[in-house]
Amino acid sequence: MSILVTGGTGYIGSHTCVELLNAGHEIVILDNLNNSHLEAVRRIERITGKKPVFIQGDIRDTQFIQKVLIDNKSTAVIHFAGLKAVGESCEQPLKYYDYNVNGTLCLLNAMQQAGVKTLVFSSSATVYGDPEKLPIQENSPLKATNPYGRSKLIVEEMLRDLYASDPNWHIAILRYFNPVGAHKSGLIGEDPKGIPNNLMPIVAQVAGGRREKLHIWGNDYPTPDGTGVRDYIHIVDLAIGHLKALEALDSAQCTAFNLGTGQGYSVMEVIHAFEHVSNKKITYEMAPRRSGDIAECYADPHLAKEQLGWEAKHGLREMCEDMWNWQVKNPQGYQ
Ligand code: NAD
Ligand code: WQD
Repeated sequence: MSILVTGGTGYIGSHTCVELLNAGHEIVILDNLNNSHLEAVRRIERITGKKPVFIQGDIRDTQFIQKVLIDNKSTAVIHFAGLKAVGESCEQPLKYYDYNVNGTLCLLNAMQQAGVKTLVFSSSATVYGDPEKLPIQENSPLKATNPYGRSKLIVEEMLRDLYASDPNWHIAILRYFNPVGAHKSGLIGEDPKGIPNNLMPIVAQVAGGRREKLHIWGNDYPTPDGTGVRDYIHIVDLAIGHLKALEALDSAQCTAFNLGTGQGYSVMEVIHAFEHVSNKKITYEMAPRRSGDIAECYADPHLAKEQLGWEAKHGLREMCEDMWNWQVKNPQGYQ
């Protein structure tokens, strides 16, 4: 009996693997290492004292995945594997539909053929587009504004259709807000390839001297200080959310849950919090708004609390502290 974790060497996957192993689950990590390092598997073992099974492979290979599920007597899948860069998805939409939509379709076919019908899927707050109302509830209108977001939305629709056709499926769709931070040990964390797109990794790299400055994409939003507001969530809280979702999936369902804190912070607030914990100056420059960005986005996390018994525990200070600890211990990431 094991849980198959696709994309388990990536940022969110590796932290979830730690929580799964610590909770006594057997796991099989499947990843093509397209955006991650094998070193993450060794680090997961160092943290937990347990050696996870690692299989290098691609979710788009249905026959292979079916064999992996059967050979390892998998009972459930937590599906992280995919691509996540919004800008790249606008430049190479077909690649995103291939990895994220076709990849998930191949995985679902393999699961169906292997008789494994329990799935936790990584969705994103991006499926809400520019929200009409804040905080965002799960029943808010869904609308994608870029190919990456559309790929998540298509998969969500696919999952709802699948469940409607066969109510033996147990599916949790987790809509993450903005995952940040790292494991307390500083052994695993986010290791973006090339220049990061997201705020917190850039801030950490500027503090660490790896990057000269941060561009703040817009200070004329209708927010208290004019900079964009987001719901940052500590990666360990997010990882635990997967464990709670899995535990709640003993009844048949297909439900979407927001995983966020419910608290929004502006870019300036993040910079100040990071300066405080790192004792470093974050050099920044004001720049025009980034295309496609929204002013404000934060979750109503009540459904996850009521139905999964989950809520985020870490605040912004701990998110910055743990991010900084990872940056200091791994200035060049896993390499
Ligand atoms: P990540 O890139 O660190 O992890 C994804 C992993 O999937 C990588 O290890 C990569 O090598 C692997 N992978 C990619 N394509 C694959 C394929 N075809 N077959 C096998 N493995 C493959 O990203 P992450 O931040 O850990 O994100 C995990 C999931 O969560 C993604 O689906 C992402 O879209 C979603 N998500 C991420 C965020 C975020 O801000 N990090 C927010 C919302 C949703
Ligand atoms: C946060 C804030 C920026 C970088 C993205 C994806 C979303 C999800 C999470 C996967 C915004 C500002 C950023 C910089 C800045 N990913 N910023 N200078 O845009 O909320 O969400 O990651 O599902 O789909 O769109 O996160 O970290 O890029 O930006 O001023 O160099 O920081 O404008 O206000 P975002 P982010």
